[in-house]
Amino acid sequence: MDRKVILTGLRPTGNLHFGHYFGALTNWVKLQDEYDCFFEIADVQALTDNFNNPDKVRKNVRETAIDLLSVGIDPKKANIFIQSAIHEIAELTVYYSNLVTIARLYRNPTVKTEVMQKKGIFGEKGEGVTYGFLGYPVSQAADITVFDCDLVPVGEDQLPILEQTREIVRKFNSIYGEYLKEPNHLLSNNPRIKGLDGNEKMGKSLGNAIFLCDNDETIKEKIMGAVTDPNKIKKDDPANPEVCMVYYYHNLVNKDNCSTICSECKKGSRGCVNCKKELITAMTEFLKPIREKRKMYEENPSLVDEILINGTKNAKKVAEKKMKQVKEAIKINYFE
Ligand code: TRP
Repeated sequence: MDRKVILTGLRPTGNLHFGHYFGALTNWVKLQDEYDCFFEIADVQALTDNFNNPDKVRKNVRETAIDLLSVGIDPKKANIFIQSAIHEIAELTVYYSNLVTIARLYRNPTVKTEVMQKKGIFGEKGEGVTYGFLGYPVSQAADITVFDCDLVPVGEDQLPILEQTREIVRKFNSIYGEYLKEPNHLLSNNPRIKGLDGNEKMGKSLGNAIFLCDNDETIKEKIMGAVTDPNKIKKDDPANPEVCMVYYYHNLVNKDNCSTICSECKKGSRGCVNCKKELITAMTEFLKPIREKRKMYEENPSLVDEILINGTKNAKKVAEKKMKQVKEAIKINYFE
């Protein structure tokens, strides 16, 4: 039997960090053994709110590819592809746009939140939101359905987008016939990763992230500045590890030693500076294989190109086939 198809995407707007790694990427690496995986570098979507900064998007397409490869996405098992190269996605977006009302797009909670976060581009009240950004859920529906995708691994914030994809599919099928597959989401059971400042979410724009490509010096600075228990004043005061970000990251990269760290911290026999130094060592160890892979790919840019070209070629084949069916459904297959 054919394997189920997975598609998920990332906007190439910056390097990937620990939040991506533990929240999503570890899961994606596992999925590539069981499913036909398509990992989309969503440059078209990135341009919806970075249309004035094409250099940034262009640079990050390659960076995102290297990030994905360095954490273990294997080009022999999975396809990494560039969204803009699959013209069928853009084409399909046009036809889907007839099936979505503007009011429905305005109501999408994810879009709403994002518009309000981007006041600099879309205005204080979101009054300057563009057609393109407002419509990105439509284009994302095209991303997903052009691959006959079964499962979409996403974080909770993307669920309203996926719901809208399903609505588009149902509407399409009810008008034109049962051509499209309704996808399901695959929520990762990995938790959201907290930031260095103790914020519930690690984020690039929040300035509290540890990036997978951070060098030793940066890692050291960041960990040394991480939030610890504010009630611990002196080195041997007992403290509460539950409110300490250093302990929190020990749990991610140094699990084996955590019960000792926890009891020493509670007793007051563990100073924060030492504890941070141990975390730096553990994190360096953890990043070692990721850095080795990164270095290899950075030194071989043509290999990265080849991987992207291949992944895009495979994706294109699937998308062309689906687009043919869609054109038949909408009766615009004039000379075929
Ligand atoms: N919107 C997603 C994000 O911001 C990225 C994305 C683009 C995506 N296309 C997708 C996710 C298709 C899942 C499926 O994270």
